Amino acid sequence: MKAKYFTFDLHFASKYTRFSEFANQMKRQPDKQPLLEPIQIGDLPLTNRIAMASMTRGRVKNAAIAPTPVQALYYEQRATAGLILTEGTWISRQAIGYAYVPGIFTQEQIEGWQLVTNAVHGQGGHIFLQLGHAGSLSHPEFLDGDVPVAPSAVNPNFTAFLPSGPQPTVVPRELTPAEIRAIVRDYRTAAQNAKTAGFDGVELHAQHPSLIAQFLSDTLNQRTDAYGGSTANKARFLFEILDALIEVWGSQRVSLRLNPFLNYSGSTTAPEPTLPTYRYVVEKLNAYHLAFLHLMDRREPDLAEEAYAQRRVFETFRPLYNGLLMANGGLSQDKANALLRSGLADLVSFGVPYIANPDLVERIAHHRPLAQADPATFFVGDDEGYIDYPALNPLPAST
Ligand SMILES: Cc1cc2nc3c(=O)[nH]c(=O)nc-3n(C[C@H](O)[C@H](O)[C@H](O)COP(=O)(O)O)c2cc1C
Repeated sequence: MKAKYFTFDLHFASKYTRFSEFANQMKRQPDKQPLLEPIQIGDLPLTNRIAMASMTRGRVKNAAIAPTPVQALYYEQRATAGLILTEGTWISRQAIGYAYVPGIFTQEQIEGWQLVTNAVHGQGGHIFLQLGHAGSLSHPEFLDGDVPVAPSAVNPNFTAFLPSGPQPTVVPRELTPAEIRAIVRDYRTAAQNAKTAGFDGVELHAQHPSLIAQFLSDTLNQRTDAYGGSTANKARFLFEILDALIEVWGSQRVSLRLNPFLNYSGSTTAPEPTLPTYRYVVEKLNAYHLAFLHLMDRREPDLAEEAYAQRRVFETFRPLYNGLLMANGGLSQDKANALLRSGLADLVSFGVPYIANPDLVERIAHHRPLAQADPATFFVGDDEGYIDYPALNPLPAST
């Protein structure tokens, strides 16, 4: 296992304008929280171990699905996170599977994302773009009437969220090997576009409900060729994509996000037949030296405490993985600090807490209460519930 914390490194920290601000904040603190320790990811120095987790917000409402100054402001407001992971972003037209979510496959989208990266970098922050493909979670309405693509012609029985409202998913079309290779090329192009747009790296969205997770699934992948059947075959698509991203970025600027226990009914009730596949993936990842592996833990309401205790994600996968591990899922400040102290994770990400607390890092540093986000505006709406959550400014003195 990697060392739990990196020592505070004056050499890299002094290069960053926010450092003196951060150092003052640390001096004011009675306790030194692991969350506020800096960490080095490859050659990228992060001022703390708090990441903003990817969140689809359904606010990119132009026909080009290109980010605008509103997205730039939203991310800029949250730039004191050690690292921002953007909302899942489509790598191609075929990848689209949710309304008003941005892409990274046109010049207009690249230029839109440049607004975002400039704004975040202007505040001394760092930002990775999350790359996604919806596969069978898409719908003909997104694809000019075409049927969505998938490892096999199996309906995931999910809901597709279209501009016209929710619709049940349909039976998708099985991809040919040549089409699979074309999708890998689309990921590569998207990674190159992310570089042009000024991102610091990319995160590969391989958790439910992505096309990659559909390939990893026992239920949705019924293939008998090189992309189905054995564990190695089911994981082939994922590793081909990772190789393509690494070609563009180098391994230390690529992260991978998995949720090993979530299945396609959105339920986590055991037994989970794909667990051996995820063990294989995580063990193989050790040779990849990625920026970090981002694992999500989620206890669904239908999962009994006993079953949950048996299959905890971080306890299961930390011993298998040698690189940096980012933990996510229902974490409070205390739980997150405890996870870092225990060595089960090296960084953590917060999703929902970042919606209503753009200054989450400062609130954690000063032990201030967190504002509660309104679920009605998580995925839909305009500026309300998006860019209007205030920071505590000025921060009240720490008590
Ligand atoms: C509104 C919303 C949108 C989300 N969109 C994404 C996404 O685009 N990509 C992704 O990997 N996870 C997505 N997630 C999952 C979050 O990244 C995170 O795993 C989840 O909210 C649990 O973390 P939390 O308990 O800190 O909120 C989304 C979650 C929410 C609430």
